[in-house]
Amino acid sequence: MIQFNNLHQETPYLFLKEKYDEAVDAGQKGTEAISISSYNKEISEVDSRYVNLKFISNDEFIFFSNYDSPKASGFISHDQIAVLVYWPSINVQIRMRAKIKRTTDEFNQNYFFNRSKEKNALAISSNQSKKIDSYSEVIENFNRSLESNDLKKCPEYWGGYSFIPYYFEFWEGHESRLNKREVFEKINGVWKQSFLQP
Ligand SMILES: Cc1cc2nc3c(=O)[nH]c(=O)nc-3n(C[C@H](O)[C@H](O)[C@H](O)COP(=O)(O)O)c2cc1C
Repeated sequence: MIQFNNLHQETPYLFLKEKYDEAVDAGQKGTEAISISSYNKEISEVDSRYVNLKFISNDEFIFFSNYDSPKASGFISHDQIAVLVYWPSINVQIRMRAKIKRTTDEFNQNYFFNRSKEKNALAISSNQSKKIDSYSEVIENFNRSLESNDLKKCPEYWGGYSFIPYYFEFWEGHESRLNKREVFEKINGVWKQSFLQP
């Protein structure tokens, strides 16, 4: 589930919340899974991965990850991302474009402090996306971290990312194929609404 805090009252945010509620009511699982695409210009690669969106706080979308991971290098190299959501239960796709940045150390520490010790042991012990000889080594590293680390202290290589979309496209599928595509684009601080052909 996504936690909404003091949601921004502008149209695309209200529209997103309306669609989210419809998806949850329709029994949609995994509503918090969003795909983040990034571009790493140092290696000329585009990549995508799912993350769990934890909060939409006012106008900021927040998820957590490893600050030494490939996605983190991508975000440093190029701070623009493309975000994708699809909720099959209501046949709605949401596309977003945004700039991304890290959340503060204080925010990360507060969040980490309140997580389960298992989640924290994994965050501490995993060199995310680095190669390892076997899966059993992953389990050993995790167990060692569970026994020996301070599991309330957020490591400097783990924390949140925040992005504020400047572009939303809501795609609503219809059996007739007369799919509805509605765009909200922020231009000079003002949301401009338009429709796209299906
Ligand atoms: C549904 C789903 C949710 C995920 N949530 C997260 C997440 O919140 N944070 C994270 O770092 N990885 C998450 N992952 C794993 C990422 O997709 C990815 O494997 C990992 O972050 C490494 O990505 P990178 O090599 O591009 O940095 C999730 C995977 C799935 C399938």
